[in-house]
Amino acid sequence: MITLDLIVGARPNFMKIAPLIREIKRRETKGDPITFRLVHTGQHYDRNMSGSFFEELDIPEPDVNLNVGSGTQAEQTSGIMLGYEKLLMAKKPDLCIVVGDVTSTMACAIAARKLLVPVAHVEGGIRSGDMTMPEEINRIVTDSITDWFFTTSETANENLRKSGVEEKRIFFVGNTMIDTLLASRPRFVRPKLWDDLGLGKGKYIVLTLHRPNNVDDPVNLKHLLEEIISGANGLPVIFPVHPRTRKVMQGIDLAGGSALHMAEPMGYLQFNYLVERALAVITDSGGITEETTVMGVPCMTLRNSTERPETVTVGTNELLGTDPAAIAPAMNKLLSGNWKKGAIPPLWDGHTAERIIEIISGLL
Ligand code: UD1
Repeated sequence: MITLDLIVGARPNFMKIAPLIREIKRRETKGDPITFRLVHTGQHYDRNMSGSFFEELDIPEPDVNLNVGSGTQAEQTSGIMLGYEKLLMAKKPDLCIVVGDVTSTMACAIAARKLLVPVAHVEGGIRSGDMTMPEEINRIVTDSITDWFFTTSETANENLRKSGVEEKRIFFVGNTMIDTLLASRPRFVRPKLWDDLGLGKGKYIVLTLHRPNNVDDPVNLKHLLEEIISGANGLPVIFPVHPRTRKVMQGIDLAGGSALHMAEPMGYLQFNYLVERALAVITDSGGITEETTVMGVPCMTLRNSTERPETVTVGTNELLGTDPAAIAPAMNKLLSGNWKKGAIPPLWDGHTAERIIEIISGLL
C-alpha cells in the first residue's frame, strides 16, 4: 500500500490539492493500493479563508489539523514543524506531498525530510528572484530538500536544472490549480453582489491585494486604490478584501471611494464567476494570474517580478510594478481595447493530477 501525506495550510493550497485527492480516491475505488492522510496546518483558519474551499472543492475533512493559526513567520514555521514532526513520529507515510510556496509548504517539507520521509513538491522550481517575499524563501528552501519535482512550466524545469537538480527528478506535468479551475468552471456561482450592484459582463474590474509591500503601509495603499479607482473611469471595482489588507483599510479615507465595492474574501466558485466575466483583474496574487490566463481575462499585476513568467509571455498578464503611476496608462490601454489576447501554456489542460499520481505510483 502506498501511503501519501498531503499538506495544506493556506488558501492557495486548497485548489492545488483538490484534484490530487480526487485522483487518489478514484484509484482507491478501483482497488489500487494507494491511500492518503490529509494534514491541514491551520495557517489559514477562517471560514472565508479555509472552510468554504473544503465544501466547494469537495475536499474531505482533514485527518489532522495542526491548528497553528496566525503568527510571525518564525512562529508559524516552528509551530507547523513541531506539530507535523509529532505526527510523523507516530506514523510515517511513504511520501510527503507539498504544494505551492506558503509557509506550511516549507515547514512540512523540512520536518518530513529530516525524518527521512521523501518529499514531492507540486509547483516546484518557480522563482521570482525577489528575496523580500517570504514565498521566495519558502520556494528555495523547499526545493533544496525536495526529492521529486512536479512542475508547471519549462521555466521551472530550467530553474531546477540550473540549481543542479538531475533531469530524472523533474516531471513537467502542468498545473493542478488549472485542473480545479477547469473542473469547477461549469459550477461557478453568481454572487449576491452581482445583482445588488447590477453588474454586467465586461462592465467591472476585480481587484485583490495582499502582499505586504502593497498593503502594509496605509499611505501607499490609499495611493494605489485611488489610482485604480480613477483609472477605472467610473466602472465599479469589486474588491474582496484579504484579512491582512482589511486591518490597514480601517484607517483609510478614499477619494472617489464610492466606485470601490469592498467585500469579504469570497468562496472559490463565486470569485471565479466574477473573474470570468470581468473586463480585467488587478492583483498582486500569483495564482490569479494563472486563472486569468486560462480564462482569457486581461490581468494587471502590481508587482515588480513574477515567478510565473508564462502568464506574461504566453498569457494575458502584464507586470505593472508597484508604482501607482503605472496604473493609468495600463487602464487606458485596456479601455481602448488594446490589451493582448494571450494563449494557454502547455499542459495546463485539466489532467495534471492524473499525471502526478501515475508517476508517483511508478516511483514508490
Ligand atoms: C499567505 C501566504 C501567501 C498566500 C496567501 C493567500 C505565506 C508566507 N504566505 O499569506 O503566499 O498568497 O496566504 O491568502 O505563507 N488571517 C485571518 N484569517 C485567516 C488567515 C489569516 O484573519 O484565516 C490574518 C492573519 O491573522 C494575519 C493575516 O491574515 O494577520 C495574514 O495571514 P498569513 O497566513 O500570515 O499570511 P497571508 O498574508 O495570508
